[in-house]
Amino acid sequence: MSLIARRLRVKALQWGKMASTEATVDLLAALVRFCKPKIIVEAGAFQGTASLTIAALLEHDDCGGHIYTCDPDPDMSPNIKENELEDYISFFHTTFEEMLPLIPKPIDFFYLDGGDRWKLLELVEPHLRVGALICVDDTLDPDWDGGKEIVELANIQLDKERGLSILQHAEV
Ligand SMILES: C[S@@+](CC[C@H](N)C(=O)[O-])C[C@H]1O[C@@H](n2cnc3c(N)ncnc32)[C@H](O)[C@@H]1O
Repeated sequence: MSLIARRLRVKALQWGKMASTEATVDLLAALVRFCKPKIIVEAGAFQGTASLTIAALLEHDDCGGHIYTCDPDPDMSPNIKENELEDYISFFHTTFEEMLPLIPKPIDFFYLDGGDRWKLLELVEPHLRVGALICVDDTLDPDWDGGKEIVELANIQLDKERGLSILQHAEV
């Protein structure tokens, strides 16, 4: 289990093939801890491996942050109740496209881990705060659409695991 999830005692996390890896979750949590974003958004919750860990960190650090996450798969949802994290995470059983109009903005931190990466990045861009961090997972995995274009645009490209691209939203 990720070091941070274990230390914060997050329950019922899944670490299967589709889940964010332990190292990815630790890296995301460290960035959230450092940047203290208020509005955090994830596309693709799966079983909540990343989002529950971030929610537990938000509770621990008490910096006023909240994570909004979603997944259209009827079998996938984070175990929010068992972890008693209702004040720190909101889950929508919808696509990211459907969730976006319903959540507060501007977005300070975006974890893009589901759907067509390029399409969703274009969609979220007008709603990002200047300086917002965007972490896109699996950008080297040919199974996921839109990764190649994001790799070319990344401020930091981490070519480990399935590829993690980090971008910072600049003023246009
Ligand atoms: C790689 S998994 C996400 C892993 C998760 N972030 C974690 O921490 O374990 C990708 C998920 O994205 C979901 N997905 C697919 N299209 C989506 C969309 N348009 N919006 C939101 N989620 C989507 C899938 O149902 C799948 O569960």
